[in-house]
Amino acid sequence: MSENSYNRYTITAALPYANGPVHIGHLAGVYVPADIYVRYLRSRGRDVAFVCGSDEHGVAITLKARKEGVTPQEVVDEYHEIIKDSFEQFGISFNVYSRTSAQVHHETSSQLFKKLFDQGVFKEKTSSQYYDEEAGQFLADRYIIGTCPNCNYDQAYGDQCEKCGSSLSPSELIKPKSALSGGEPVRKETTHWYLPMENYENWLRQWILEDHKEWKANVYGQCKSWLDAGLRPRAMTRDLDWGVKVPVEGADGKVLYVWFDAPIGYISATKEWARSHGKDWEPYWKAKDTRLIHFIGKDNIVFHCIIFPSILKAEGSYILPDNVPANEFLNLEGDKISTSRNWAVWLHEYLEELPGKEDVLRYTLCANAPETKDNDFTWKDFQARNNNELVAIYGNFINRALVLTHKYYNGKIPERRELFDIDTEAINRVKETPERIAKALEAFKFRDGLNEFIDLARTGNKYLADTEPWKMIKDNPERVHTILNIALQIAANLAILGEPFLPKTSLKLLNILRTPISNWDSAGGAELLMAGHQLGEVELLFEKIEDHVIAAQIQKLQNTKDQNAQAEVPVKAPKPGITYDDFSKLDIRIGTVLTAEAMPKSKKLLKLLVDTGIDKRTILSGIAQHYGPEEIIGKQVSVLVNLAPRKMMGIESQGMILMAEDSSGDLKFVLPSETVDNGAMVS
Ligand code: 2FM
Ligand code: ZN
Repeated sequence: MSENSYNRYTITAALPYANGPVHIGHLAGVYVPADIYVRYLRSRGRDVAFVCGSDEHGVAITLKARKEGVTPQEVVDEYHEIIKDSFEQFGISFNVYSRTSAQVHHETSSQLFKKLFDQGVFKEKTSSQYYDEEAGQFLADRYIIGTCPNCNYDQAYGDQCEKCGSSLSPSELIKPKSALSGGEPVRKETTHWYLPMENYENWLRQWILEDHKEWKANVYGQCKSWLDAGLRPRAMTRDLDWGVKVPVEGADGKVLYVWFDAPIGYISATKEWARSHGKDWEPYWKAKDTRLIHFIGKDNIVFHCIIFPSILKAEGSYILPDNVPANEFLNLEGDKISTSRNWAVWLHEYLEELPGKEDVLRYTLCANAPETKDNDFTWKDFQARNNNELVAIYGNFINRALVLTHKYYNGKIPERRELFDIDTEAINRVKETPERIAKALEAFKFRDGLNEFIDLARTGNKYLADTEPWKMIKDNPERVHTILNIALQIAANLAILGEPFLPKTSLKLLNILRTPISNWDSAGGAELLMAGHQLGEVELLFEKIEDHVIAAQIQKLQNTKDQNAQAEVPVKAPKPGITYDDFSKLDIRIGTVLTAEAMPKSKKLLKLLVDTGIDKRTILSGIAQHYGPEEIIGKQVSVLVNLAPRKMMGIESQGMILMAEDSSGDLKFVLPSETVDNGAMVS
């Protein structure tokens, strides 16, 4: 369907887990782009439901509650408020910010599950799982800790070894222990309901790989990898006492899997909004002329592109997402954002420490949005964007135009007279810009859209610098009339076109211009403000950020680094000595990574094709949390080539890439100091 044939939009932004506050990575990856898109649509007069809420279920929340000695409800109550407040202050203009512990959500997700159950969609399967007799409950994979069969790390989780990166199942752990009681768990039979994902594979291949080739390359590529690897049944229920109860007889002590209920949270939130506004929620989820778009981060792609659409498809009456413009991740000062290492800029802290600078952060995060690859936030760049772009270009232009109008005409818009080429050029630029920005935003290219916007401010700034009206006020006052009239028309256009990106600034500017909020379609005109119209008092839109403010933020991060270093484990104890013969058994070669791709269903593993000089072979490496596939293609690596092949997740890994691990757990490649031939032996 073409853009214009939609009559309404349902825009969802990933429900953040309510087990911690939100940080700049969340804002850059999901909420700023979603909000820009929604504000743009509203400005065009579109009917939009922008829905979000807190994701309040799942094992992580129960673990946090247990650790803190409070109830899961207490955990989510605390963070729901903090998160909601941060979003509000950053101007994320949800129509509703709901939560999955709300009654409407329990009802909605429970009914949807029941409907699928009654339709016979789920497969019931009984299997034996770990049970903690002392605690009287089944153990989620994360609740089981034991020794990793691959690397002997004794704190591996039942789903994954955080040390070597292998994906595990609890039964693979050596000496498993319950994280609840510390006791040895027993095996006990339990029944769950599975969504037979394999049944949707053909349909998904057609729907995504054929019908949605326009999706972003990172999203399309990840979906293709999942589909190519083959889908397997997924349990949609869990043995847990926190969540939405499974509405089926004999399912006591079971709740819906958090990834079954969370996306349904979008529907529940829409219902909540519709109810409180006397609207009907159903067209927003069921009418063919509604465009559904999910804004998410890359770690949520499989759930929004494969699992949730399969659930909606199975139900039968819902529309499917038309696009899922997922972003990659934002790093902070060159390092991955990490909640556990407190390596983040938390929004609630930013709001306290840099009050009134919400739009500056929105601007920086959009300018640096990780749209096609992971990107980096640095405080120096933040300062430069503010001082060199917002202050020096946008702010300076508006300030000059306003100050001169007040000085020469007591703040009344002067009348336009004869136009010269330089004026027509500026007017033409104004005319073209709304369409240019619109085109970028509709293609989810928010950085490009922002660039077009700041370019218009640049045009205005240059127009005043080139025409120098202050130099001709005495000799050629007629000309100054025209120049300032045009400058103020550019200012009015910037207020309208900047609103999706910088909503608070636009509001301020519209107030100064004493113009009611105008819609997108009025932008592009050079007659937005009438001659004789009285402007309000001059106010600065932005202020310079001084070095000491940035230094304080950098110091704060340094303190975090120092604290982490203190808490880190000391250098590992040396291993027992070996003979040269022992060492010479290792065949280590230098090779080059030819291809690299993420492994579906694994957060840690990358699948590499490496030219070892001897052959080209597949190696699975537990580095996915340290390097993206695209970063390492073409890189030289050291490979232990005579390690016995090992099958992981159905793929045989033929060797091992050598990595150095520093005390903070970061992995770096072990490399020759200069490029050498593939096959060069390390000895
Ligand atoms: O990854 C996350 O933070 C999840 N809480 C996102 C859920 S999105 C949706 F499905 F609700
Ligand atoms: Zn391991």
